[in-house]
Amino acid sequence: MPAPQEFLDYVDSNADAFIQRLSNAVAIKSVSGDPAYRQEVIKMSHWISEQLQAVGVETQLADLGRHTMDGQDLPLPPAVLGRIGNDPNKKTVLVYGHFDVQPALVSDGWNTDPFKLTVLPNGQLVGRGSSDDKGPVLGWLNVLQYHYQNKKELPVNLKCCFEGMEESGSEGLDDLVKKESQPGGWFDGVDCVCISDNYWLNTRTPTLTYGLRGLAYYKITVEGPTRDLHSGVFGRTVHEPMTDLIKIMGTLVDVKGNILIPGVDEMVSAAAADERQLYEKLDYSIKDVEESAGAPIALSSDKVEVLMGRMRMPSLSLHGIEGAFYGAGAKTVIPAKVSGKFSIRLVPPQSPESVLPLVKAHIESEFKKLGTKNRLNLEELHGGTPWVTDINHWNYEAAKIATRAVYNQEPDMTREGGSIPVTLTFAEALGVSVLLLPMGRGDDGAHSTNEKLDRSNFIEGTKLLGTYLYEVGAVASK
Ligand code: BES
Ligand code: MN
Ligand code: MN
Repeated sequence: MPAPQEFLDYVDSNADAFIQRLSNAVAIKSVSGDPAYRQEVIKMSHWISEQLQAVGVETQLADLGRHTMDGQDLPLPPAVLGRIGNDPNKKTVLVYGHFDVQPALVSDGWNTDPFKLTVLPNGQLVGRGSSDDKGPVLGWLNVLQYHYQNKKELPVNLKCCFEGMEESGSEGLDDLVKKESQPGGWFDGVDCVCISDNYWLNTRTPTLTYGLRGLAYYKITVEGPTRDLHSGVFGRTVHEPMTDLIKIMGTLVDVKGNILIPGVDEMVSAAAADERQLYEKLDYSIKDVEESAGAPIALSSDKVEVLMGRMRMPSLSLHGIEGAFYGAGAKTVIPAKVSGKFSIRLVPPQSPESVLPLVKAHIESEFKKLGTKNRLNLEELHGGTPWVTDINHWNYEAAKIATRAVYNQEPDMTREGGSIPVTLTFAEALGVSVLLLPMGRGDDGAHSTNEKLDRSNFIEGTKLLGTYLYEVGAVASK
């Protein structure tokens, strides 16, 4: 059962209105990681709920309570639950997306106002959240709008779960998902899940994704003096916290990406010869990675090595140092207290729980070796378990057929290096197949400056999401 031609035509003829709606969504500065914007994220919850209601979806704003961020007690933005259709002869699909975004400032290097969607002559829709993840969330709205306005029944029963804290660790969502997956809960009866919140591997080939890395995020704090010191007065006189911290951070990973914490890389089995073929098959080259990174800096000239480094190996990245001198000038200070932040992307069979003791033991033993009199503290900030699923499920089959229909291409089958921790929660709480069906391209610049979504990805991606629902519907009638 392919999607009706009328649907595809409707998407084409309403493209400008869809882009206008995306522009309205981008204008709401729903930055979840900055307490100053919390009201905007909450506003976005209401906006999404109203948009869903306007296309015939019953909604509920699910209160997630409060939390502490940067020492402030804040209300969490409510998750938006939706449902439409209740036909026992149809499959029930749950779609997930997030309407919060990463911070963005013109001064970071944007060419345009990040919260004003700019349509470039080359068709790029530039703005924070265009690709991650407002564009894909609005893709579902576009599909629903066609059915509502034309009084067409959806080919499936649809449930939605849209959240506003994904970029900050999906605070509160796991408990909600578990609760609503119980008999009688909002997600009771769901047959499969579709998440549109990642990207094609390259800029040419549509993609289906069957794995995500997990995450374990850490903060190590070294402190000594009660206040910042003058380096002229105290240099070579006291143990300096920043020197200790840099030494410790330097023991975590080498310049080739190998993780130096004993036991962490060792948890992951080496790739079998036939596994390499999976990566060989992907439409990808070193040129793709270097173009999206903006420089010829790939760790290897072997495409398979590079892809495996991202998809099936863990990685450790150093993110920043809080409390260090930062900014213009040349301040001669010895910072009193500094916190280094780093995270490990995890793959099966790793989990935040299983790597924590290794990280702890390593850091404590390295700190001891320094012989410093400063104090050290290790905290785990947030985490998520990795996820890999079976691509032979009908959920993937439906998405493959839909991809062929819309793009006339075979999709790349990928595992992603990024993390969406709630994915595994859905898979486990509901016991159903979860599919990642990306809308944007590999060079969209999620989390970066000048984030964009190509107009064609928004429009054809909307067709893909709709066509996928029709193909899931077709599975039910087989
Ligand atoms: N959409 C991304 C997840 C993603 C990133 C998928 C790259 C595929 C490739 C999501 O919005 C995200 O940024 N997730 C965070 C999760 C973290 C805060 C727990 C991430 O991966 O850093
Ligand atoms: Mn995202
Ligand atoms: Mn993101």
